[in-house]
Amino acid sequence: MEFVDFDKTLTDEECKRLSAQNDRIVSEHQANMLEVKAKKHWDLFYKRNESRFFKDRHWTTREFQELLNQSETTKLILFEVGCGVGNFIFPLIEENLNFKVIACDLSPRAVEIVKKHPNYSQEQIKVFQCDITTDHVFEEVEAGSVDIITLIFVLSAIHPDKFSTTLKHLFNLLKPGGILLFRDYGLYDMAQLRFKPGNKIAENFYMRQDGTRSYYFSIDEFSNLLEEAGFEIIVNTYVHRRTINIKENIDVPRIFIQSKARKPLGW
Ligand SMILES: C[S@@+](CC[C@H](N)C(=O)[O-])C[C@H]1O[C@@H](n2cnc3c(N)ncnc32)[C@H](O)[C@@H]1O
Repeated sequence: MEFVDFDKTLTDEECKRLSAQNDRIVSEHQANMLEVKAKKHWDLFYKRNESRFFKDRHWTTREFQELLNQSETTKLILFEVGCGVGNFIFPLIEENLNFKVIACDLSPRAVEIVKKHPNYSQEQIKVFQCDITTDHVFEEVEAGSVDIITLIFVLSAIHPDKFSTTLKHLFNLLKPGGILLFRDYGLYDMAQLRFKPGNKIAENFYMRQDGTRSYYFSIDEFSNLLEEAGFEIIVNTYVHRRTINIKENIDVPRIFIQSKARKPLGW
């Protein structure tokens, strides 16, 4: 097996684990069912976990300073795609950042949980159910109208065959000069190495026990996807972080990819 374009040197043990994942691949039928039932699986995820699973993302203005570039005259429009229960948007609102927020998620239940949040207000947030891989989004959001799109741990949940269409949709939604802020799982992140035989759907694409899926991106692949969709890349890099949970005695290294890309002026 050849491993190129990654940010981590794999140990022999890790190479063996990756190879073993190929011993039993998810069948074509099961892979198709996972695609057909993606909405159902995410909805059940939120039925089980409600708003308890993901932590509020308080790192976003530190990592994405673009969120602090406020306009003095008009409210910027921020579109959080795959908003879940709002762990990205509510910390921004609590910081009093002056955005008009648009948010969507595949799961109707997640959308309902956002609407019940104490800091939700219809004047500041428009939230709706939507599969971002389809044209439905253009019925809710006007093309060329958004200043900043955030896509945080969402593209990895989408089938790789739909990455290009998704990014093209986001490109079309942005104003010329508008920015896409992206964070997602990086190639050979510890969560990828932990998958056992029976979970791999395709190269770097896996199913979890609950039927949701996750893809692990290399920066080369993601920069090709961005450029193909028409974006100008500002930053596209691996970032190394740790997942720490003191109560459960967990402290593990993580690999993410973080990117910023612009829709060129003149579109
Ligand atoms: C890991 S969560 C991230 C939530 C949020 N962005 C955050 O940072 O906390 C991934 C979210 O993507 C949503 N999702 C998956 N596929 C989607 C699609 N095709 N269109 C819109 N949302 C999708 C899921 O329902 C889920 O809420």
